[in-house]
Amino acid sequence: WGPDDEDEQRRRGASGPVRVRVPAKVNLHLGVGPLRPDGYHELNTVYHAISIHDELTARRGDTLTLTMEGEGAGELALDDTNLAIRAARALAGYAGVPPHARLHLRKQIPLAGGLAGGSADAAAALVACDALWGTGLSRDELARIAADLGSDVPFLIHGGTALGTGRGESVSPVLARPTTWHWVVAVADAGLSTPVAYRELDRLREAGAAGEPLGSTDALFAALRQRDPRVLAAALGNDLQDAALAMRPSLAGTLKAGEAAGALAGIVSGSGPTCVFLAADAADAERIAVELTSADVCREARTAHGPVPGARIV
Ligand code: C5P
Repeated sequence: WGPDDEDEQRRRGASGPVRVRVPAKVNLHLGVGPLRPDGYHELNTVYHAISIHDELTARRGDTLTLTMEGEGAGELALDDTNLAIRAARALAGYAGVPPHARLHLRKQIPLAGGLAGGSADAAAALVACDALWGTGLSRDELARIAADLGSDVPFLIHGGTALGTGRGESVSPVLARPTTWHWVVAVADAGLSTPVAYRELDRLREAGAAGEPLGSTDALFAALRQRDPRVLAAALGNDLQDAALAMRPSLAGTLKAGEAAGALAGIVSGSGPTCVFLAADAADAERIAVELTSADVCREARTAHGPVPGARIV
């Protein structure tokens, strides 16, 4: 890697800042299979990207640095353990370029919330650094690098609504007529650890205390095709919900309050503790969010819609 190559790279890459928006995800169906020898669970999940976004800006620099503002500022490590930094290094290693960039995150996705915020930032860093460095990888190549960073990261490159299999990293888009779904997202005071939630589910299953596994995604896909929120509400499901409720019993009250406020259904998002509620329309979502906020069953309730695109330059 000589100075001439670096000049060439500079010509190919962006000279100004690159800004990328990336969504949060919820799982409309999260079917958790057995624990595999590699420590992951086999998943059968339907991912859905919603309009709560983080924004990552990448600028040229002489080293790799990360700063942040917004949700979790001051709590999130900004060193080599941060997924955005790991993503930039992974891309640089793959493409054979120096991992030099100044990254800045504006976070709205809560930390450890079951909304894949860390994975979203990794996806954003891949897309932003690819443009900044002019490495010009395809979405599929980026998704392959993404898979090594975390099970949810490939989905956040693609966005929309998609089937996730394997440990979640194998993603195929759902081809359905476009429908916008309206959600209320109840953010909890404190996060839950994803690996701990999976271990809790294993423990509950061994003790015979977990619900029946969800199984096939057929009903969910049929519901998406019908484009009726009442039908979709009946098809939502999450095998990790029992684990999240065992770890945070107060979430039962949050789910109840959302349904009492008129939500068609409420589920724990991913490994929790965020709860998401499906509303009949945008106006209903607004009303439910106001009611949930005043019911004092969550830190805050926000409205969102989906599906939205994955990590995109803006
Ligand atoms: O893939 P990711 O690093 O996001 O996963 C975090 C943790 O969640 C894993 O280390 C594992 O404990 C758990 N996990 C799992 N099965 C999956 C995905 C995640 O057990 N399919």
